[in-house]
Amino acid sequence: MQAVSTFEEVRAHLRGRQYCWLVTGAAGFIGSNMVEALLALGQRVTGLDNFATGYRHNLDQVRAAAGNGWTNFRFVEGDICDVAVCRAACEGVDIVLHEAALGSVTRSIEDPLSTHATNVTGFLNMLVAARDAGVQRFVYAASSSTYGDHPGLPKVEDQIGRPLSPYAVTKYANELYADVFARSYGVASIGLRYFNVFGPRQDPDGAYAAVIPQWVAAMIAGRAVIINGDGETSRDFCYIDNVVQANLLAALADAPEAVNRVYNVAAGERTSLNELYEKMRALLQGRFGHLRDSAPRYNDFRAGDVRHSQADITRARELLGYAPTHRIDAGLAQAMKWYVQHLSNIE
Ligand SMILES: NC(=O)c1ccc[n+]([C@@H]2O[C@H](COP(=O)([O-])OP(=O)(O)OC[C@H]3O[C@@H](n4cnc5c(N)ncnc54)[C@H](O)[C@@H]3O)[C@@H](O)[C@H]2O)c1
Repeated sequence: MQAVSTFEEVRAHLRGRQYCWLVTGAAGFIGSNMVEALLALGQRVTGLDNFATGYRHNLDQVRAAAGNGWTNFRFVEGDICDVAVCRAACEGVDIVLHEAALGSVTRSIEDPLSTHATNVTGFLNMLVAARDAGVQRFVYAASSSTYGDHPGLPKVEDQIGRPLSPYAVTKYANELYADVFARSYGVASIGLRYFNVFGPRQDPDGAYAAVIPQWVAAMIAGRAVIINGDGETSRDFCYIDNVVQANLLAALADAPEAVNRVYNVAAGERTSLNELYEKMRALLQGRFGHLRDSAPRYNDFRAGDVRHSQADITRARELLGYAPTHRIDAGLAQAMKWYVQHLSNIE
């Protein structure tokens, strides 16, 4: 791999050279956006998913966007809890982007066994398969939940607290396994600690939906928006394009000090839930008049939730060349446009 330092250089490099990628969780929110970006750059991509929380219609949208590039895509339907599936998917692959997992803190509190099976056993299966297939780079979705109860703000990679949920344990276990596989077997990995990612194709349905898609669906349908707690809980909301960028930079980073590390991936800003509500309402109320005099409803705080979250993104900036292109307002404008098109009949 060549030395790369900016996102533009990485994209130029990829336009001139085709790698074989494996994207796990390809039918999910982040995975499908990764596949779309890679196909647009002329890359060959295998997608792996068992549709636990992903959708065929996400892949249909990628196919529509990819045009002829879709011929470079192969889909494997399977479960990462089966190591044979992971081995078959890793065959001939240069770079793995491992996104498959069961998200949601709440789900993990209700059902720690299935979260553990996919997020820890499945992760280990993927690492073993990647090692045995001689994959050059293993980039994986870590999580800001690893900061747990550490009070420091903004969050710096080396200062973590105790996990606050089974989900957080699984994501921290990923980092420990990746680190040990680097030292024991020379598997070159990079972990990306995502902070509240949002954007097109993030699922608005179900009990475990993330806050932005859940709220936009409620706002469009005229249902009440429920805020857990007093609304002063804050998050570093990160638009999907920033996450795509971080993955591509991590995939091709070749400086030794950049590899076998974890990185915060976020916008580096903090927005309270009350502020988020107002931003979303402002973007939608022109189309949906009922929002002009609507107000959120407040519920109890949710178990396992961290009070405040904000990333220090210095490490990713310095070692990966990460330069987020979308702050929250620009990202929300894009995301709301997509949800309006897909959740309502209004063009
Ligand atoms: N969205 C966020 O804000 C966020 C924040 C931190 C970390 N992450 C991590 O990013 C990754 C992607 O999250 P997402 O938001 O796109 O979620 P998602 O639920 O949309 O995507 C996950 C995908 O993995 C698939 N999957 C689940 N279990 C599987 C299994 N056993 N075998 C094969 N496929 C399986 C699902 O079907 C789904 O398509 C996850 O690892 C998640 O933990 C996400």
